[in-house]
Amino acid sequence: MGNTTSENTQLDFSTQGKKATAAQAAEEYDLNDKVILVTGANIGIGLETCRTLAEHNATVIMACRDRSKANQARKNVIDSIVNNRTYLKCDLESLSNRIQVIKLDLASLQSIQECVKDFKSRNLKLHCLVNNAGVFMPKFQSTKDNIETTLQVNFLGPFYLTWLLLPYLFASCKNPRVINVTSIMHKKVPLPFADWLNSQISVLSSDTAEMEKNNEKKTHGVWGGITSSNFSINTSYGISKALVILWTQWLHQKFHDGIDLTSTSTNDQDSSAFSDDIKQPEDRLALSHYGKLYVCCIHPGLVATSIGRNIPGGEFLFTNVMKPFIKSPEQGAATIVRCCVLPDDLFESGHFYVDCVPHDDMLLEELKTSTKLKIENRNNEEKEQEQQSYKSWTYADKLLSKVNVDLKKEWDISIVRESAVKHLRLRSS
Ligand SMILES: NC(=O)c1ccc[n+]([C@@H]2O[C@H](COP(=O)([O-])OP(=O)(O)OC[C@H]3O[C@@H](n4cnc5c(N)ncnc54)[C@H](OP(=O)(O)O)[C@@H]3O)[C@@H](O)[C@H]2O)c1
Repeated sequence: MGNTTSENTQLDFSTQGKKATAAQAAEEYDLNDKVILVTGANIGIGLETCRTLAEHNATVIMACRDRSKANQARKNVIDSIVNNRTYLKCDLESLSNRIQVIKLDLASLQSIQECVKDFKSRNLKLHCLVNNAGVFMPKFQSTKDNIETTLQVNFLGPFYLTWLLLPYLFASCKNPRVINVTSIMHKKVPLPFADWLNSQISVLSSDTAEMEKNNEKKTHGVWGGITSSNFSINTSYGISKALVILWTQWLHQKFHDGIDLTSTSTNDQDSSAFSDDIKQPEDRLALSHYGKLYVCCIHPGLVATSIGRNIPGGEFLFTNVMKPFIKSPEQGAATIVRCCVLPDDLFESGHFYVDCVPHDDMLLEELKTSTKLKIENRNNEEKEQEQQSYKSWTYADKLLSKVNVDLKKEWDISIVRESAVKHLRLRSS
């Protein structure tokens, strides 16, 4: 995504990636003209990510749930770059304009919709989305959408935000990028995870009225399978992060490996994620100059941030007791920054990055297969639907439909079409 004039790599990331800071991960890459939206940007890993991206000349949109904390964080980023910049090509004149704040509460589907509306009104391009925000909840809590909070903030919210922003990403540049922050704690899921996912899909597939009649919803009070009676801190966090990994693999299979926007065939099964509109030959032709989505998920390492703040003594443990032995936030942001700056040919889409390099060997055994599985026969929809990655999509789709969100209806392909038409007109004039 970034451009560099330097041929020299300062660090060998395959051996030194663990210690790398965000500044080192950015090397001499320049993100001039790139617009990057980072969620959970007011503190911790998100804040350090924004600082480095802005220093390397990106336009950064800090998406945060608390506007005043976000404005304070924005000021902190500007002051620290002005006073301590290490990237000497940073354009200080444009710095203030290049850092924006947008309101986003992932615990509210309405707030996600409003955030996208606000983004649309700014008439900006969007080259990269970093889904960083996350929570680690010690006790059961549900959102006003009736979904367990960890599940919604860590998985369903980012899933929905990304779905709504994908058309803007595709309309903005040839090869847009999505970076999803997950965790090694994804291993704390109920095993086999495929069974958990299948059983949730089957519950969510039953008729809502029937469920209410059988007291299913009343008993649990929430949708999605994480309830007050089965809640456990590690399992809930683990489930949310495992779903992020599967969903990343699905995004890769669908929008990188699977989709061929240059095809003018109307029978292409792989375009099923799109609304029927995109199957029109003229739209597919208009879209032919578009490229693929580059997507990955990352584990930042164990990082001295406020992630433990909801657990009594948790923040002190992370930011004081464990601090000397774990990564600093500057190091915690390195893998995200690396995935933002790497040019397309060096970026390995669909993979799990740890310490700045792909590390699929660190994935739960069950989740490894999904990345390896290629869609051998692109027209074999059944085969695709057997994959766990596809099931993460089905689970999210069904979960959202229970709270009256119809993903397919909300896929606004007109944004991509308008941009494509404009692009084609420019090209032919
Ligand atoms: N720290 C680690 O050791 C570690 C390890 C593995 C993975 N991770 C992941 O790294 C990511 C960043 O975490 P961190 O360590 O930097 O933690 P952090 O310092 O607690 O930052 C979390 C960020 O997420 C935001 N957030 C929380 N709930 C939100 C909501 N409902 N809507 C929008 N934003 C919300 C927070 O905003 P507020 O300040 O307003 O609450 C904050 O900006 C998370 O996804 C986390 O799961 C962290």
